[in-house]
Amino acid sequence: MRHIISFEDISPDEWARLYGLTLDIIARPGDYARSCAGRVMAALFYEPSTRTNFSFQAAMQRLGGGVIGFSDPSVTSASKGETMRDTMIMVSGYSDSIVMRHPCAGAAKAASLYSSCPVINAGDGGHFHPTQTLTDLAAITRLRGGLRGMSVGICGDLKYGRTVHSLITALARFEDVTLHLISPRQLACPKYLRVFMQQRKMRFYEVTNLEAALGSLDVLYMTRIQRERFDDPKEYDRLKGVYVLTARKLSLAKGDLLILHPLPRVDEINPDVDGDPRAKYFFQAETGMYARMALLLELTALPKLTPERDYTETGRLCRNPGCITFREDYLPFLEENGRCVYCDYSLKGD
Ligand code: CP
Repeated sequence: MRHIISFEDISPDEWARLYGLTLDIIARPGDYARSCAGRVMAALFYEPSTRTNFSFQAAMQRLGGGVIGFSDPSVTSASKGETMRDTMIMVSGYSDSIVMRHPCAGAAKAASLYSSCPVINAGDGGHFHPTQTLTDLAAITRLRGGLRGMSVGICGDLKYGRTVHSLITALARFEDVTLHLISPRQLACPKYLRVFMQQRKMRFYEVTNLEAALGSLDVLYMTRIQRERFDDPKEYDRLKGVYVLTARKLSLAKGDLLILHPLPRVDEINPDVDGDPRAKYFFQAETGMYARMALLLELTALPKLTPERDYTETGRLCRNPGCITFREDYLPFLEENGRCVYCDYSLKGD
């Protein structure tokens, strides 16, 4: 493992090893209390976070390592016009891993071009959030032993929900999983993911009605409508509150359903669900800290990297205004299989 930009950067064997390590850390935390002594993690949060930022920081501290970073870029030299490129060159010299969240899709990929230590994508705009998926898979596996044969419902904002995008790419690895993608049509999952699911021969259904799907699910992964990603606030107002899981609706669900949510929630899970034994979102969030400890243990032990570029610059421009190439305009524009390598936006106009 090097940079973790998408969940695809973690091979099935690496996932199995990380999960085993996660369980061992949970069972014997004291054995790991000095495992990262002398190592430094940088937490660069250009966008708000509670769970990801604090769980990574807690993870590093529980491993005996140090943490530098910020949760407000206005207190850094980015506010004076410093490029992300220069920030990455500097910070990777100070640290052994960089955990980065950014509002632009593709920001972590861009950072990795200039970093001499592993970059961990802690959420890049509405694109990917691979360590949330590490958390989600670890939580499901702890509770049910695995995902094989499961019927998984993902409900809410599938267009902008980066946790959803990473989870879908991960679920391709598990046998006999059926996906129920539950969203308003305006918030259906992006085309590149639909193509991915078709190419990987995943069994998936795109539906709009949560109640109709509820009874067939083994896992229900609720997500919030991502207000901050909407260009038009009126569109958000039209769609907010479209799905609200309540204790009453849960009478339609299986007795052993797992209810997950990456959090934060707004109104899509009524607090009257919290007391239901099927509600596992706080367990999920806590599991995330242990999974991140396992990841940091592996990544911060790596020797320094030499930043390298495997792609040929195209001279074209991404057309996604949310792509990092619009904000950091010195970035080489890189293309792979007709897609922007930063944000996955199709360059063919589909
Ligand atoms: N799940 C998640 O990414 O939460 P935060 O935005 O609080 O980090």
